[in-house]
Amino acid sequence: MNNDSFSIGILGVGAACPEHICTNADLEKMVETSDEWIRTRTGIRERRIKASGEGASDYGAAAARIALERSGIAAEQIGLIICCTYTPDEPMPSAACRIQQKLGIVGAAAFDLNAACTGFVYGLVVAKNMLRGGMAKYALVVGVDMNSAVTDWTDRSTCVVFGDGAGAVVLGPVAEGKGLLGEMLASDGSGADMIVIPAGGSKHPANEYTVKNHDHFIKMAGNEVFKFAVKILGPSVDAALEKAGMHIDEVDFIVPHQANIRIIEAAAKRFGVPMERVLCNIDRYGNTSAGTIPMLLAEAEQNGTLRDGHVIAMVAFGAGLTWGAVVMRWGK
Ligand code: ACO
Repeated sequence: MNNDSFSIGILGVGAACPEHICTNADLEKMVETSDEWIRTRTGIRERRIKASGEGASDYGAAAARIALERSGIAAEQIGLIICCTYTPDEPMPSAACRIQQKLGIVGAAAFDLNAACTGFVYGLVVAKNMLRGGMAKYALVVGVDMNSAVTDWTDRSTCVVFGDGAGAVVLGPVAEGKGLLGEMLASDGSGADMIVIPAGGSKHPANEYTVKNHDHFIKMAGNEVFKFAVKILGPSVDAALEKAGMHIDEVDFIVPHQANIRIIEAAAKRFGVPMERVLCNIDRYGNTSAGTIPMLLAEAEQNGTLRDGHVIAMVAFGAGLTWGAVVMRWGK
């Protein structure tokens, strides 16, 4: 299998998230904010928060188990595991290897991919190309982030937007005309300082000062990111549609990264697409970074919204800055 004459698509999808719900009313007790501000400025009502001692691989593996079961592919048939996350359980080993450990998939290539909130879109494209190159027949692509672990619960401008969650898909060969039809990926490192966790890496390892200064938490120029996102979503989908040789009118559902309902509405308006054709669950989960898109896919498939033959346009943006879009036809 070393040609591009076969299509790669999603054979099964699953999601998993913590049980604990943190409502806007809970946040009102922690920082100077209000349910009304959070709902009207972001569209979020509640988010899930992991328990102490839990990590990305716990939820990533749980989502992957569901995806495997729905795909009908056995764990031992998986030859590639990509875990898209910027919040692995630990810096080393990768969360992908932790997921592999939990699922017992010995021998599959496994690695993490960090493109922040664009991670899952990047992961899909990387996996597709590796499968087409003959690396393996089936891949597991997990999108998971435990944002609560890197959230500054004293910073009202960030703590209200993030949550924890995971989604996973099994990728493999599908019928011609189905699967991934067109993609685009991009990044711009000149925006690297817009969303950053300053410490805990090789440049500023943990010390007393970094802990005291809250440097292990997300610092975000929210307003700048907001403007960037509104600008980039439309052209990203356009570029992926062009690769697919399709037009926005042929798209049944836009599946956007869930960062802020106002960003999503602005993108929908630009396309002239009604919100009924835009998948959203930000009200219940907030921004779960690499988790948002596979969580949406799992939900939409389970409730019957997303059906065989539907064309979807997934689009995301995030720290890096990174962005990307994938147009695909649902079904095997
Ligand atoms: N409650 C009440 N007031 C608040 C809150 C809050 N939780 N947060 C900020 N404010 C105040 C600010 O202090 C400011 O007050 P001022 O005018 O008196 O100075 C005012 O609200 C407006 O602040 P902005 O930062 O301009 O608010 P904005 O409307 O931009 O909303 C938000 C902030 C929600 C963060 C928005 O900018 C956003 O969604 N940005 C995009 C974030 C994003 O998409 N990140 C992507 C990826 S993250 C990743 O890759 C890991």
